Amino acid sequence: GLVNTREIFRKAVGGGYAIPAYNFNNLEQLQAIVVACVETSSPVIIQVSKGARNYANETMLRHMAQGAVAMATEMGSKIPIVLHLDHGDSFELCKSCVDSGFSSVMIDGSHLPYEENIALTKKVVDYAHARDVSVEGELGVLAGIEDEVSAEHSTYTQPEEVEDFVAKTGVDSLAISIGTSHGAFKFRLKEGESVPPLRFDILEEIERRLPGFPIVLHGASSVVQEYVELINAYGGHMEGAVGVPEEQLRRAAASAVCKINIDSDGRLAVTAKVREYLAKNPGEFDPRKYLGEARNELVRLIKHKNQAVLGSAGKA
Ligand code: G3H
Ligand code: 13P
Ligand code: NA
Ligand code: ZN
Repeated sequence: GLVNTREIFRKAVGGGYAIPAYNFNNLEQLQAIVVACVETSSPVIIQVSKGARNYANETMLRHMAQGAVAMATEMGSKIPIVLHLDHGDSFELCKSCVDSGFSSVMIDGSHLPYEENIALTKKVVDYAHARDVSVEGELGVLAGIEDEVSAEHSTYTQPEEVEDFVAKTGVDSLAISIGTSHGAFKFRLKEGESVPPLRFDILEEIERRLPGFPIVLHGASSVVQEYVELINAYGGHMEGAVGVPEEQLRRAAASAVCKINIDSDGRLAVTAKVREYLAKNPGEFDPRKYLGEARNELVRLIKHKNQAVLGSAGKA
């Protein structure tokens, strides 16, 4: 069955790697996640955003997650699978996910005043922990769009707040803001500029204050340039799309960061392969053909992340 994050985070922090958290909204994404994580023997967090619930229906997604567990078992695998709510924005939403069988939830009160973030997060923790569900909180605001919460500029996590926040809320993990952002345009670079490094100094200060505590990195897609180029070559316009270099993610994974959220790279892989396939096969109209190509690419992408970036391969 589904597991919460406690044991897998403990092992990941101790082992110097990170568990991948892949968002899913549809069948092909979830199949690719299961196949790639089983074949690499990686623990995995499959996560559902509010947008995913609106798109695919929460009941449908929950049953798909159960199907993912059954599919992995059928493949002869016992990889830990967590079903997690991504960016929960209210107690009611978190409660509904806990009640319906999610094994982990995020309550994102990062946009609220500090004391309100604490109060909301603690309310979710009290409810979830009584039902053995783990909770992720957040301090600091990422640049860009956090679901419906938008922040013009990121506000880095203030390390002075983390011990108090964790002690008062009882969260199992903490999402932080150290320079990443959501989406495919993470940095607006001028001609000749390169991607600025993440604020590892802030991360180190957080680790110093919370030794061994599980830290989460959102907005961690690399925005794979091969996909951006394919998209642009086959009718798309994504000039200037750029993400977090893999080297920075490897460094984060080796630290107390034990959950790395990836959504945009999967979206890019699907869009690149669908555009390419349809352009090259103008007479084809069976969605299994182009979605099958997209699914194969997702498997390759996820295996690469697990093996060569996060280090979660072989840790199941
Ligand atoms: O944090 C954002 C995730 O990538 C989910 O995005 O709200 O469009 O489903 P979404
Ligand atoms: P990306 O947009 O970088 O994939 O981030 C996803 C995320 O943080 C989901 O919560
Ligand atoms: Na780690
Ligand atoms: Zn996020």
